[in-house]
Amino acid sequence: MTRLLFHLSDIHFGLEDNHALDWVKREIAERRPDAVAITGDLTMRARHREFNAAIHWITQLGVPVTVEVGNHDMPYFNPVERFFKPYKRFKGMAKLIEKEIDLDGLVIVPLKTAVRAQPRFNWSKGWVTDRALDKCLSTIDALPRGCRALVAVHHPLREVGTEGTALTRHGNKALAELAKRPVEGVISGHVHDPFDIAEETRNGPVRMIGAGTLSKRTRSTPPSFNEITWDGERLSVNARNLEEIDTCDMQIDDVPEDATPPRQPHEPVAPVDRVPRVDPPVR
Ligand SMILES: [Fe+2]
Ligand SMILES: [Fe+2]
Repeated sequence: MTRLLFHLSDIHFGLEDNHALDWVKREIAERRPDAVAITGDLTMRARHREFNAAIHWITQLGVPVTVEVGNHDMPYFNPVERFFKPYKRFKGMAKLIEKEIDLDGLVIVPLKTAVRAQPRFNWSKGWVTDRALDKCLSTIDALPRGCRALVAVHHPLREVGTEGTALTRHGNKALAELAKRPVEGVISGHVHDPFDIAEETRNGPVRMIGAGTLSKRTRSTPPSFNEITWDGERLSVNARNLEEIDTCDMQIDDVPEDATPPRQPHEPVAPVDRVPRVDPPVR
């Protein structure tokens, strides 16, 4: 039986695109997907009013939802709360955070990549801790025989740009471990553009699927979400947007080097500075 998953990301309540959100909500009401996976950055600055709007929107969807934590979702202006109770503001949808969902043999398994602090200047980047990776891998290893995993993260796990420019620290290690397991793909957000690529690791390829944004913080593509179908053997990804642009034109060839969307709303769209695709070295 074919299962339908809507993969949403980076809604950024506070700077959300309400036109796009109304469309997605209608699509969810009409299509009734088996689940919705939201891969983080629900808010702009984790303000209470932004979380209230996010909780209101998400809890009215009427279908199973799983939510990843994004780097924008931990307290920004309150360092004490950020360190000691980083997820306090998710109350009202706490049960949805990193929730596993079984789509008839395809299980959504979370892997946390947003951390409250890290030993480098830019805390918006991804970081896979040993603890987070162990938790994800042990969940996959405990799946019933024949089940496949669809790993949900906020930050894409692969390196981007020139050699040594890591978007997500320890992402390569995570990918190599995932490649050894029955992982159908890794769904992510953060970069605000959809993609669907096969990442080579020393243990074989891992499919990486990114969703665009549903906020006004667009980069090179209009607001979108991914419609993912699972027929028990194959995963199909369709990047959907309101402007009727074909999926193949929406899915960029590579993840932008700078994952922080630089453009403010209503500013002209800058040409996309694409990083040439290079096959990653075997590590
Ligand atoms: Fe984002
Ligand atoms: Fe992010």
